[in-house]
Amino acid sequence: MPLKTRLRLPALVLIALFVVVVAAAAVLGSKSAQAQAEQPIAFNHSVHVEELGVPCLYCHSNAQRGQSAGLPTLEKCQGCHSQIDPGDSQALQDLARYAEENKPIQWVPVALQPDFVYFSHRPHVNAGLNCESCHGDVGQMTVAEPQGDMNMGWCLSCHKKLAPERFVKLSDCATCHK
Ligand code: HEC
Ligand code: HEC
Ligand code: HEC
Ligand code: HEC
Ligand code: HEC
Repeated sequence: MPLKTRLRLPALVLIALFVVVVAAAAVLGSKSAQAQAEQPIAFNHSVHVEELGVPCLYCHSNAQRGQSAGLPTLEKCQGCHSQIDPGDSQALQDLARYAEENKPIQWVPVALQPDFVYFSHRPHVNAGLNCESCHGDVGQMTVAEPQGDMNMGWCLSCHKKLAPERFVKLSDCATCHK
């Protein structure tokens, strides 16, 4: 066998292996990002939003003025729930236990961008977009579910559609990658 072929074979095997590993990682990665998160308490959006009429901003109050929307604190839940008998609801008993131990609830994020992406709620909410246009109909959900691919193409296609006159700025790499 000529020297060249002998060298090339193992290299090809390595490259093939590398491709398999990368593809597997991509599949596993996107699976885990799509799976519905197991939350510490089975919080139910539809009970609070649809049935009780609590506004999104009551619990995610930073969305209008800040970068992140924020999640409600235990104190905010207790503002109502200290008056509500948990009865035999497992989720309400869980909540009562957190309150007794005064232990912050560690919610698992479902809509999360990588660190190298800059996103802020404020310009979007101020431009009149409602929460549902990006997060789906959360008010009908139990726990919040991840929505499709919130990827770069998604950001750019909406910028092009809704703000064509500012698209030069809104498609500039530095606008979303600082
Ligand atoms: C233009 C699309 C868009 C709109 C409109 C929008 N969001 Fe978001 N939201 C996102 C993206 C993207 C993320 C992930 C941000 C990150 O990881 O930096 C996110 C994250 C969140 C989070 C979790 C992380 C955090 O920011 O605390 C909550 C809660 C949230 N949004 C609630 C809301 C609510 C409530 C509204 C309406 C008042 C709203 N969003 C409107 C795109 C949007
Ligand atoms: C504005 C008042 C209010 C706030 C704030 C509030 N809740 Fe509730 N919640 C209620 C009421 C009322 C019910 C219905 C109770 C019932 O059915 O007995 C309820 C029901 C629930 C239930 C049972 C839902 C089911 O599946 O039957 C859970 C769990 C719950 N809340 C968790 C929370 C958590 C966690 C927070 C904070 C993130 C919170 N709530 C904030 C008023 C509130
Ligand atoms: C009573 C409080 C309450 C109200 C009202 C409420 N939420 Fe939530 N929201 C929560 C809690 C608690 C979580 C964390 C558990 C979960 O992900 O389901 C959450 C999670 C979310 C997430 C996922 C955040 C993440 O970490 O990625 C989004 C998006 C969201 N809410 C949007 C909304 C929208 C839109 C509305 C109005 C239609 C709304 N919420 C109303 C309490 C609330
Ligand atoms: C549903 C439509 C929509 C989606 C999806 C969307 N945007 Fe936007 N974005 C807008 C609009 C509208 C504005 C405000 C334009 C204006 O100033 O009037 C804006 C403004 C911004 C700004 C402020 C720029 C500035 O300097 O004023 C940033 C940063 C931004 N978007 C990042 C993102 C990122 C990152 C994503 C994806 C994770 C995203 N956007 C997804 C519609 C969207
Ligand atoms: C409107 C917002 C926005 C703009 C403008 C933008 N990006 Fe992104 N970019 C994102 C988001 C969100 C992600 C993460 C999600 C994803 O991978 O698609 C991302 C991811 C990336 C990645 C990682 C891709 C991967 O698969 O991991 C690269 C590289 C990148 N962007 C380069 C650029 C370059 C170069 C530009 C300018 C030509 C640019 N981006 C402009 C929002 C934006």
